Amino acid sequence: MGKIKSCFVCQECGYESPKWAGKCPNCNSWNSMVEEFKSQQSYSAGSNLSKIKVNNMPQSIMNIKSIAYDRMNTGINELNRVLGGGIVKGSLTLISGDPGIGKSTLLLQAANNISKQYGKVLYISGEESEEQIKLRGDRLEALSKELFILSETNVEIIEKHIIDTEPIFVIIDSIQTLYNDTITSAPGSVSQVRESSNAIMRIGKSKDIPFFIVAHVTKQGALAGPKVLEHMVDTVLSFEGERTEEFRILRTIKNRFGTTSEIGVFEMRETGLQEVSNPSAVFLEDTEFNREGSIVIGIMEGTRPILVEVQALVSETKAVMPRRTAVGVDTSRLNLILAVLEKKLKIPFYNCDVYVNVVGGLNIEGTLGDLGIALALVSSIKSCETKLEKLLVVGEIGLTGEVRPVTFCDRIVNEGSKMGFKNFIVPSRNKDKINLNNVNIVGVSSLKEVINKVF
Ligand SMILES: Nc1ncnc2c1ncn2[C@@H]1O[C@H](COP(=O)(O)OP(=O)(O)OP(=O)(O)O)[C@@H](O)[C@H]1O
Ligand SMILES: [Mg+2]
Repeated sequence: MGKIKSCFVCQECGYESPKWAGKCPNCNSWNSMVEEFKSQQSYSAGSNLSKIKVNNMPQSIMNIKSIAYDRMNTGINELNRVLGGGIVKGSLTLISGDPGIGKSTLLLQAANNISKQYGKVLYISGEESEEQIKLRGDRLEALSKELFILSETNVEIIEKHIIDTEPIFVIIDSIQTLYNDTITSAPGSVSQVRESSNAIMRIGKSKDIPFFIVAHVTKQGALAGPKVLEHMVDTVLSFEGERTEEFRILRTIKNRFGTTSEIGVFEMRETGLQEVSNPSAVFLEDTEFNREGSIVIGIMEGTRPILVEVQALVSETKAVMPRRTAVGVDTSRLNLILAVLEKKLKIPFYNCDVYVNVVGGLNIEGTLGDLGIALALVSSIKSCETKLEKLLVVGEIGLTGEVRPVTFCDRIVNEGSKMGFKNFIVPSRNKDKINLNNVNIVGVSSLKEVINKVF
């Protein structure tokens, strides 16, 4: 028999407890336990087995037919790329990002393109009225006949509309606004989000309709709601960028149908999000070469080489604990580079504040930028610019002060040459594999050697 049971659920991690607590025992967050009621069906193992009808049987993997993923083109190359080649039929994709970053804009543009190519698309918004979305549609020129807009938050009504409309693609904006009558807690709470996602997944998988779901993020940038949500869906995308700058970066956090290392770059304009197919050109747009503390480095984002400017500012301080501030660079990586510079080159940073910034809002992951960051720091502390004009730097730094070879060095140098760079500093072991005329490629094997050649 079903009975109503009350329990306290942590809104941060989904931990359940019969008692209220000020601090969640699981994730240690404060004031996150909220009372929720749910009906409990008692289940006793084996009691109903004779009544259960089974339609499917386990099959040997050898007997299961191989299929290729059936993908839909979103009409936006950068979006297709991060999805691994388009939207897979029946898949569930979550897109998260800060308020006002452009989630609704991107999805309305994609919905418009898809509806023109494939047929009916249903855009369900729980945040904006039909008129508001129409206004955005006018601005973006997303006015396809097959694009249907619905302002609704009740999951059951949404399900009914989906069955009646028979769309080939559905967008839900956003999962935190949906509610399920059977659950008493407020929209946006963990159980509402979980149940709504379950319902959507059921509809999507049974009808083979792909869904895009917008999800809010918390102040810290994590997905609001339980981690469960990320596990349930097939793909998780994150839309990032500084709201004050026009550039937006779409990143894959999880993808069951493709790599997670690709990024998509967009520019926010009045007419909507424009694709940026050559990000290096954009990131270097306002770069003035040969400035103190500034070095252009090459990194790989997925399969694409991207060139970005790294800036460093080193200033003397009397503070006992000097500042180490890194934007776009991992702070522990910065500390490692500083330690190697101090120890191996005897350059004192212990009495200096150090600031490092990657221009354009990109986050550098990996070690490809080490050498460039080190040169930017040395350039700033010495107050002198590099001798080499139009210089591009690639290389990893080891703890003994050696410059280590990196993968994809040749592709980065090729990109640099296309962008008009004339001088390249690369690890010496990478140099032999690069065949380029008309440019000066300097191979280096230690930090000491680089400093002598560059300053
Ligand atoms: N007329 C305009 N010209 C240029 N940019 C605009 C214009 N109107 C809106 N924008 C841009 O679009 C952004 C809002 O986009 P959108 O509504 O798609 O964001 P969102 O991620 O869906 O936000 P929310 O989380 O609030 O739903 C604004 O922050 C602004 O950058
Ligand atoms: Mg929105």
